[in-house]
This record gives sequence, C-alpha cells and structure tokens, in this order.
Amino acid sequence: MTVSVCGNLTESQPMITSSTGGPIPSTHEATIADQFTRQASQFAASPALHNKAALDLLVDAASPRVDEVSLDVACGPGTVVTAFAGRVRRAEGLDATEAMLAEARRLAAAAGVANVGWHRGDVYALPFVDGAFDIVSCRFAFHHLQAPAAVFAEMVRVCRPGGRIVLCDAVASDDPAKAAAFNVMERHRDPSTVEFRTLAWHLALFRDAGLPEPQARFYQVPAERERLVAMSFPASDDRAGLRAMIEASVAGDTMGVNARRDGDTVRFDYPAVVLVAQKGE
Ligand SMILES: C[S@@+](CC[C@H](N)C(=O)[O-])C[C@H]1O[C@@H](n2cnc3c(N)ncnc32)[C@H](O)[C@@H]1O
Repeated sequence: MTVSVCGNLTESQPMITSSTGGPIPSTHEATIADQFTRQASQFAASPALHNKAALDLLVDAASPRVDEVSLDVACGPGTVVTAFAGRVRRAEGLDATEAMLAEARRLAAAAGVANVGWHRGDVYALPFVDGAFDIVSCRFAFHHLQAPAAVFAEMVRVCRPGGRIVLCDAVASDDPAKAAAFNVMERHRDPSTVEFRTLAWHLALFRDAGLPEPQARFYQVPAERERLVAMSFPASDDRAGLRAMIEASVAGDTMGVNARRDGDTVRFDYPAVVLVAQKGE
C-alpha cells in the first residue's frame, strides 16, 4: 500500500508532565531537540505522515478495545495518539520535544478529541508504573535511538500482561551497501538519525525482549525530493549535497528505496513496517 495524505486529528486535553525535570543532557539528545524543534510545524503538516490508511493499518494492528488505554512514545505531533483516541477510552502521548507537543495539542484540539493526554519526557525512563497501558506504540522514532533495546524494554515494562506492543519504522534494505547508502543520506538529511535497521533487526528486538514473533504489516511512505529537502534541516544546511545524494541514488537504486526520476525531480519510497506482538499474561 502506498500512503498519501489525510489528517485525523482531534482535540487534546492539555496535561503536560515532565519526567526529566530539566534540559536534556547528552549531545545526541541536544541534536534531537534541535532537529525536532525546527521540524515540528513541517512534521505536523506533512500529508504522508497523516495518511489515514497508514494510521488505520497501525491502529488496527493493535486490536484496540473501547475500554482500553494506549500510550504512544516519541509521539511527535500526536498523530498516532489522536488516531488511537477514537478507538480507546484514553490515548496518551509522550515526547521529549516541547514544540512537537505544542503541535500535538493544537492539532488534537482542532479535531475535537477530549480523551488524550500529553507528557513531556524521555523514552528511556517512561514516567509510568509497570503495566499501566493496554497498548504501547512507537512510530518512526527508533531510528533516532542510540540504545533502542533499552527503550523497547521500557515499552514492554509499561504494557500490561496481555497488552500489545506496536512498533513502526522504516526499514533498511537487506543489501548492506544499499542500507549504508540510505543511512548516509538520512544522517545527512537529519543528523539526529542514528540508523535505519533491517526487518530482521526489528524481529530480533521482539525476540530478545521475550515477546512472541510479531505480526508484520508493510506499507510505503512516498517521498519527493524537493518536498523532502524543504522540510529538512541537513547537516551544515547542505541542501545541495542532500539533493545530490538523492539524485545519485537513482541509477541502480543504490539506497534500496525504489528511487526513480519523475520529470525534474526524484521520487522514492520509505519501506515501513508495523510490527505487533502480545505481551505474555
Ligand atoms: C520522526 S519523529 C516521529 C514522531 C511521531 N512518532 C510520528 O510518527 O509522527 C521522532 C520523535 O521522537 C522524539 N524523540 C526522540 N528521542 C526521544 C527521547 N529520548 N525521548 C522522547 N522523545 C524522543 C522526537 O522529539 C520526535 O518528536
């Protein structure tokens, strides 16, 4: 399935808490804060990231029930939280970046959802007791994490026995050269990116956490060079270099993302996977 646009955001309940209580300490987290403060408004307005079919695919994968409570970690502008809000009793979101949470409150309020809550905090130390949520999800954030297994363990910890863990991210090619080229481009485009990993890596994450093999659903997030450049803040503000990397990948599809020329521009697809597994009772 190829996704395009569609916003589904509704009202928010401005409940902000902080688990960190101060500035984010590490250099990487400072880069995260810098990137996502600058990206927040563009991110919140991105059609591809609000595609209804893709959101339905993710929410459906969690098999939500109306009496349940969900948590989306690294929630950004609250897109996934608001998608869950129509299907559960309460949907919570947590993110480190205040500008993203401001977008989340704004977009959710515009859509009229009341059963949402927002938390400013760190995914490495979720400010919730064990088993607090029926569903714990994360979309498009694990490639920004330096210690993803630690965050995954936190997600599993705050999920109740019998609850569902949902992980969505773009996956790198199984061809190591293509995966490396894709990661070089993505780290240049967004220096807060650590690494896009393979599908096998994601499956191992579930296995190593003691979860059953997850169900997998796949879709494509379409990208167009100029729109992508416009919404990015590349290293050294080198937009020409970013364009050149994307351009150079067309011959031989060297990043493994189906890059192809379309008139004056280049289009490609981020291959996304939604993985879901139930935590043991
Ligand atoms: C690419 S955005 C994805 C946003 C959202 N999940 C979505 O799919 O629209 C990544 C988000 O991860 C958040 N993030 C990165 N590291 C974090 C951390 N250690 N704790 C909390 N949030 C973090 C960023 O602030 C940013 O909002």
